[in-house]
Amino acid sequence: RTLRIGLIPGDGIGKEVIPAGRQILEALPTSLKLKFEFVDLKAGFETFEQTGTALPDKTVEVLRNECDGALFGAVSSPSTAVKGYSSPIVALRKRLDLYANVRPVKSVMTAMNPIDMVIVRENTEDLYVKEEKTYDGPEGKIAEAIKRISQKASFRIATMAGEIALRRQKIREAGAPSIHKSPLVTITHKSNVLSQTDGLFRSTAREALAATAFSSVGVEEQIVDSMVYKLFRQPETYDVIVAPNLYGDILSDGAAALVGSLGLVPSANVGEGFAIGEPCHGSAPDIQGKNIANPIATLRSVALMLEFLNEEAAAAKIYAAVDANLEEGKLLSPDLGGTATTTQVVEDILRRL
Ligand code: NAI
Ligand code: MG
Repeated sequence: RTLRIGLIPGDGIGKEVIPAGRQILEALPTSLKLKFEFVDLKAGFETFEQTGTALPDKTVEVLRNECDGALFGAVSSPSTAVKGYSSPIVALRKRLDLYANVRPVKSVMTAMNPIDMVIVRENTEDLYVKEEKTYDGPEGKIAEAIKRISQKASFRIATMAGEIALRRQKIREAGAPSIHKSPLVTITHKSNVLSQTDGLFRSTAREALAATAFSSVGVEEQIVDSMVYKLFRQPETYDVIVAPNLYGDILSDGAAALVGSLGLVPSANVGEGFAIGEPCHGSAPDIQGKNIANPIATLRSVALMLEFLNEEAAAAKIYAAVDANLEEGKLLSPDLGGTATTTQVVEDILRRL
């Protein structure tokens, strides 16, 4: 099988870590019978400054018509609004209907309190439909935002969470070390207060996960505020968490803090038959150009993209090589307390592959 992968480095350290993603795909063992073709594509703030748009139509067209998957580095967003600029990754998610944001958070098995969870965040609605208005009332200015939850979006995100739980179980049964013994999905909501919106999310997710395909998957619920408490006190109890957009956004950044460095945490933006792997970190202008960015978030994002393209064996090889590098702990980048360069970390992981 030949997979065509779009490469969008973006800005800052995106330009240093995305090449590592390409290298690891090229280094996969030939026994997997996988070939890759790469297409270099533009997006980001630099692209905006050069061309007047942060997301050229050509990038979207090539992804849609020619690619099986893609890797996205990071983009710099100015902290004050710049006329005509808006985040290209947000626009890409919308234009390609990448309705799920999937973020695995995993520590090494030898950690004192090992963690191995994945947060599945609905990516198209909730408060992020950005329908806001401000008007004058007796209390002075009043601002309102729409929180929209649909049955369709809730059903498909919960179904994806169930599928991910089953796939993780399959990978465990194939011998990958894990702290979990059986698949579990935790539905997160606040339906005790928001009985209609979060209530619909909760009941629809329940319905989706009641399908016979998921009969081996445990299903539980957790109110989002107590979820934060438990996430910090007993993170080892979570396997797959499914949440509406806003809660998912907050939980996934919080969970990332549990494993030490942003440089370790991958994500994928997933739609029907398409996935974009994306490290969770930003463009890190403070370390750009120094060859010290941790490439692991990107390498794990490559593996995650492969999982969604049904190439689980290739994904497992990458995860194992990364874990071996971390467990040995000799060649670590500075964010993990080491002195290795990006190049050295990548070389070590490629050797283990
Ligand atoms: P950031 O994630 O770029 O950096 C936060 C801190 O983590 C910095 O000290 C950085 O050096 C460190 N860090 C991040 N990734 C690392 C890696 N791979 N290895 C080692 N250290 C790493 O977030 P920040 O500083 O808030 O934002 C910088 C720029 O990135 C801004 O323009 C922001 O808008 C953008 N950004 C873009 C995102 C995206 O493209 N999805 C996400 C977050 C921020
Ligand atoms: Mg976020």
